[in-house]
Amino acid sequence: MTLRAVVRGIGHYLPERVVENAEFEKTLDTNDAWISSRTGIERRHFAAEGETTSDLGVNACEAALSDAGLVADDVDALIVATSTPDLTFPSAATMIQGKLGMTRGFAFDVQAVCAGFAYAMTTANSLISSGQAQRVLVVGSETFSRLMDWTDRGTCVLFGDGAGAVLLEARNAAGTPDDRGILAAEIHSDGRYKDILYVDGGVSTHTTGHLRMQGKEVFRHAVEKLAGTARTTLAKAGLEPADVDWIVPHQANLRILTATADRLNVPMEKVVVTVQDHGNTSAASIPLALSVAKADGRLKEGDVVVTGAIGGGLAWGSVVFRV
Ligand code: UT7
Repeated sequence: MTLRAVVRGIGHYLPERVVENAEFEKTLDTNDAWISSRTGIERRHFAAEGETTSDLGVNACEAALSDAGLVADDVDALIVATSTPDLTFPSAATMIQGKLGMTRGFAFDVQAVCAGFAYAMTTANSLISSGQAQRVLVVGSETFSRLMDWTDRGTCVLFGDGAGAVLLEARNAAGTPDDRGILAAEIHSDGRYKDILYVDGGVSTHTTGHLRMQGKEVFRHAVEKLAGTARTTLAKAGLEPADVDWIVPHQANLRILTATADRLNVPMEKVVVTVQDHGNTSAASIPLALSVAKADGRLKEGDVVVTGAIGGGLAWGSVVFRV
């Protein structure tokens, strides 16, 4: 018998304010045609003044708990993937725990920028498969609008705010690729590439800083590493790209999604794409896309899903699960 981490509930939350590409034309030398043709992004959501990462996260958690038919105290652990916590400490996770009224278990943040959800899912899988937790809420929640340099057209049009959450539950399984639940997960990082995507400030430099990116370099690594990690994780799960029902990748750029699908020889009809409506929401983008695909009926029990993400660090990883 094998303990598998099975997805029992998924939910998301997006802030009310929607910003269309055309809005940037008022303040920047840019236009809707460039943004949509080079990135696939058409609009994004921005958190309201005073609306924080834990505010977005708690709404996503409540949606995932409701989808699972559970309440906060049914959960043993809460892991939040974020690079934009409300405060330096405590963690966004403990803030969400408090707001949910969850009076037991433990909560902590994982910081792997856009790869954060892969890191958090991998950690949750370890907690469940080792018997340390029965139910884990895995959350991606971000307010990247707070990190933008609004004069830098190369970055500020790309990102958005939002949150998604997945409730994982321990179930006994046969230990075969036909099991429901997480079948394989892997994470990587390579700090030699820290300068191609970073924020130029932080607590010990007394500033919040702004996001800086060498877009072309990140693009090149993204395509290569996302396809590579998807292949190896599928192999570890005993599956091949042809077995995949849905690729749910980090949503940074439609051209990255297309190139990754091409390399895996998987048709675009099997790729869940939300970048047009959300922009790049960093660690929130995968659980947001999973939630959208579940809500519109695409994700069905038994489907094989591969998720993959890459971001600052560089950090990257992927998770294969059967719904
Ligand atoms: O989530 C973490 C992972 N992040 C990513 O995966 C992002 C990866 N990178 C990308 O998605 C793309 O590299 C970008 C969308 C960021 C940029 O696209 P690109 O095709 O690589 O464009 P570029 O940076 O090479 O810029 C091409 C031109 C430049 O003008 P010149 O030098 O050719 O005159 C830029 O200044 O496009 C210009 N440009 C813009 N023009 C209008 C850059 N941003 C804009 C803009 N509007 N917003």
